[in-house]
Amino acid sequence: MSKTDRFLRACWGQEVDRTPVWLMRQAGRYLPEYRATRAKVSGFLELCQTPELACEVTLQPLRRFDLDAAILFSDILTVPHAMGMELDFLEGEGPVFRDPLREASDLRRLGQPDPEQDLRYVMDAVRLIRRELDGRVPLIGFAGSPWTLACYMIEGRGSRDFLHAKTWMYSDPESLEALLERLVLALTDYLHAQAAAGAQALMLFDTWGGTLTTSAYERFSLAPLQRVIAGLRATAEAKELPIILFSKGGGNWLERMAASGANVIGLDWTIDINVARTRLGKKIAVQGNLDPIALYGQAALLRAEIENILCANAGRPGHIFNLGHGITPQTPIDNVELLVETVHAWNGCSNDS
Ligand code: CP3
Repeated sequence: MSKTDRFLRACWGQEVDRTPVWLMRQAGRYLPEYRATRAKVSGFLELCQTPELACEVTLQPLRRFDLDAAILFSDILTVPHAMGMELDFLEGEGPVFRDPLREASDLRRLGQPDPEQDLRYVMDAVRLIRRELDGRVPLIGFAGSPWTLACYMIEGRGSRDFLHAKTWMYSDPESLEALLERLVLALTDYLHAQAAAGAQALMLFDTWGGTLTTSAYERFSLAPLQRVIAGLRATAEAKELPIILFSKGGGNWLERMAASGANVIGLDWTIDINVARTRLGKKIAVQGNLDPIALYGQAALLRAEIENILCANAGRPGHIFNLGHGITPQTPIDNVELLVETVHAWNGCSNDS
């Protein structure tokens, strides 16, 4: 079975010869070759904006590890940037919008980007990566969720409690919905353009969905995501692509997430994957859900964690092995190698025999 088939078939819940594996943030600072490429440019955004370099770092983890999918190297914040918000990535702090949105009238500052123009560098990277991959593994395109992008656009940076974003939500929900609707339109166009440029699966990162109450999650995170997915399903280029939805901390809402139109639900490590599969039933595939910090531990214990996840999915097609969130910068490379090899070498639970 080709690796392209393995990942895509698992997304559709079909039988595979072995569990496919890829890792969120598989291109990144834990790799010395990434740090070397990163050092050639003045800032992280420049790396994203230079298709040859974005392509190079996308391919780096695939040269080291026997991964079953590539993910476009970019960032979720390129979309608000293209809508007109100035963006810096500060060393040691992460992304910062200099002039965050704080009230309804600030929405007037936002433009509606044309992806082939304002985000052309992303589409060029997708085309280049597809050419370089030459069918070896499928390429995953991605975007942030409307709610997660709104969080950064309102806070201006990462946050512990999302005070500004949630205060807005509890004071003027209608104008927050207007912001989310602008994002729905921008993200639908953006993901559609990635599909047209050659992305073979699409992932939605709802990193901050889990900060909400159930009713707020439904209204401000899931409902806009549903509109993005419905918009994509209405296009010729994206309607046949698997869509992966990852709401970090979304374990409470799996059934609701499954009704969003996504084919695959990304799970963080706080939910038991066996319970998740039982709740989701046969029609939905899952991706996850190793705690990324388990990669810092002892090899034998790491192997046991990995095998627990594989065993929980034994006999149930539709599992893509991944971490429960992105790989972190100090991760020992040997353990990443061990992870990929353990997943691929696995041939059943010991208590099966
Ligand atoms: O998975 C991959 O390999 C593709 C690349 C990718 C990046 N960001 C590269 C990146 C993806 C899929 C993202 C998504 C992203 N970006 C998310 C959603 C996923 C998640 O982790 O929850 C979020 C919330 C962002 C916003 C963002 N970008 C933050 C908070 C940071 C700083 C955090 C950090 O690790 O420094 C970034 C910067 C960033 N995006 C880096 C990388 C490799 C590190 C920047 C550097 O090299 O200096």
